Amino acid sequence: MPTDEPVPGREAGGYAADPHFWRAGAIAATLFMSAVLAILTVNTLRVISPGGAQVPPYQVINHHIGYEYDGAKHECVPEVGAQELLFGRVYDESHAAGLIAKGKLVIQSRACMDCHTFFGNGAYYAPDLTKAWLDPLWLSYPGEKRGEAMVNFLMNPFHVGYHLMPNLHINR
Ligand code: HEC
Repeated sequence: MPTDEPVPGREAGGYAADPHFWRAGAIAATLFMSAVLAILTVNTLRVISPGGAQVPPYQVINHHIGYEYDGAKHECVPEVGAQELLFGRVYDESHAAGLIAKGKLVIQSRACMDCHTFFGNGAYYAPDLTKAWLDPLWLSYPGEKRGEAMVNFLMNPFHVGYHLMPNLHINR
């Protein structure tokens, strides 16, 4: 039931009647939330940067990558194994980073996500590419031949399932 009781602080001369009170509150809240945002940003970058808590360093491309069941987590998790050469050579950190930057440009320029998904994001016309490397088709090649097999497919797609991937004129 509405009452005519004055709200504490709102009476003439009360703290809530003073605009400085509200201004100070707004400034304090903005400063506090800016600090929270900065801390979250720094923390997130630490986790999602290559070599961070959840992303292996780029040199992971020099290793065998598996996907094994983890009994403690009750799910499959990526496993970085022994050294396994991609295209017959070892890549240092900056070379690996350069290749990955180039790969991102290829993925953007050819709009792979118009047909494919990465981590479930994208279109559902073609298979998810997050673990395409572990597709039984490519696993049937020995580790050191798998990269070459996939490159040949990307330059000249052939039928592996029920839709045909178009030739996107990708060169080496
Ligand atoms: C116009 C649609 C389309 C675009 C764009 C496209 N793909 Fe595909 N892709 C397909 C289809 C369809 C298949 C499945 C082929 C099959 O099953 O025969 C496929 C299959 C693949 C596979 C094999 C997947 C697996 O699980 O074995 C890879 C790898 C792949 N594409 C990579 C790419 C990359 C990288 C790009 C961008 C540079 C790309 N695709 C762009 C349609 C597309």
